[in-house]
Amino acid sequence: MDGKITDAIERVLVSEEELKKRVKDLGFKISEDYKGKNLTVLAILSGSFMFVADLMRTFEIPVQISFIYASSYNDSTTSSGKVEIRHEKGFSPEGKDILVVEDIVDTGRTLSAVKKELLNSGAKSVSICSLLDKPSRRITDIKVDYVGFEIPDAFVVGYGLDYAYKYRQFPFIGVLKPECIE
Ligand code: IMP
Ligand code: MG
Repeated sequence: MDGKITDAIERVLVSEEELKKRVKDLGFKISEDYKGKNLTVLAILSGSFMFVADLMRTFEIPVQISFIYASSYNDSTTSSGKVEIRHEKGFSPEGKDILVVEDIVDTGRTLSAVKKELLNSGAKSVSICSLLDKPSRRITDIKVDYVGFEIPDAFVVGYGLDYAYKYRQFPFIGVLKPECIE
């Protein structure tokens, strides 16, 4: 495509200013809730990289961070879908108060699988923080403890979120033009 990369955006759903303010508020709330605990942030790659970097900078408590890959793929033989999870080498969830940080909750499959795996591996507690939430698409009953913004059922990109590995670089959340989706 010629022209600017932002030409792919139909409209901005959450502006850079709104993101900054909300991320700060979330950070303060989480800092309050985890006062006196040893917080371990577990960020789900790749979509959460920008959000978690900004969120971390607002924390007023000691915090450790580690990253996981969680890739969901649909298994044609079952309707449930499967999620494969990989931790950083040497990381163990055992005994830790974990805050999972995600870019967006859609069906909820990824987070349900991640939470289950962490609790099975001996995590002391697991809470979830997602920048975006599309509640209309949920098929699991996963509880999201901290939500940045509830959004309608549209495909969004920017601030870490991608379409086909592109558009992660925008400092805002935008709806992709239909002609940019194959
Ligand atoms: P879930 O398991 O259906 O909740 O899937 C959540 C994952 O799907 C997120 O981590 C994203 O990678 C991806 N996803 C869902 N909706 C969008 C979207 O609108 N834009 C970009 N990625 C999305
Ligand atoms: Mg993701």
